[in-house]
Amino acid sequence: MAEIRLPKNSRVQKGKHFPAPAGATKVRTFKVYRWNPDDGQNPRVDTFDVDLATCGPMVLDALIKIKNEIDPTLTFRRSCREGICGSCAMNIDGTNTLACTKAIGDCDAKDVPVYPLPQMEVIKDLVPDLTHFYAQYASIKPWIRTQSAPPPDAERLQSKEDRAKLDGLYECILCACCSSSCPSYWWNGDRYLGPAILLQAYRWIVDSRDEDTGARLDDLEDPFRLYRCHTILNCARTCPKGLNPAKAIAEIKKLMVLRQGA
Ligand code: SF4
Ligand code: SF4
Ligand code: FES
Repeated sequence: MAEIRLPKNSRVQKGKHFPAPAGATKVRTFKVYRWNPDDGQNPRVDTFDVDLATCGPMVLDALIKIKNEIDPTLTFRRSCREGICGSCAMNIDGTNTLACTKAIGDCDAKDVPVYPLPQMEVIKDLVPDLTHFYAQYASIKPWIRTQSAPPPDAERLQSKEDRAKLDGLYECILCACCSSSCPSYWWNGDRYLGPAILLQAYRWIVDSRDEDTGARLDDLEDPFRLYRCHTILNCARTCPKGLNPAKAIAEIKKLMVLRQGA
């Protein structure tokens, strides 16, 4: 199990224990990070014993059960329940992943630790503050930029081969699991864009319909925004969608070298 890096505002203390109800037949324990900025208390870890006999198979099912039946103040994000919206990203069993696609049965720890994404500011409990992450996303201008007029009465089309270049990129759901697992992003996240945003940047750079490749590369030509990636590969290991941001970053660096030689 990987080392658990605590969220930024952490001096965690032991919290409350919520035992399973009498008659529970299949109990699994979850150790859940709690912090409420409004109560003036330090963060704590609460212990919840959940009866899996009356719970769905995923960690998100356990969190929903805890919220519905044990402690309604437990706060976390979720929406789609099928690995598409990215909102339930958190650190489970020592790994950044999606609570809705992480099976309880695949957690190794006897008592499953559930923390917010590491090294992010916490808004409450398992909810990280993604304001800076989204501002960095906006900074790469994530849309098709063109100078030419569009074809009359038609969309800007793409060959099958050009469309295939977006495979492994378009699937990114911006969950931030990769960026919050990246040591370079932990230490320089104010200026380094991090793996998620750089994968997205590459997604627009290689889109055959985009006509601003040069300006996009100019924007990344900076010792911090791009070049803080040291190929540690935590990002590829943790991505719950099986993507490889480090490869996308390497492709951007290759394009930088190619254009210098051109
Ligand atoms: S690359 Fe993977 S881990 Fe990173 S934001 Fe996209 S989906 Fe999430
Ligand atoms: S490969 Fe680069 S982006 Fe990925 S974790 Fe390592 S330093 Fe971060
Ligand atoms: S709830 Fe949407 S990805 Fe988990």
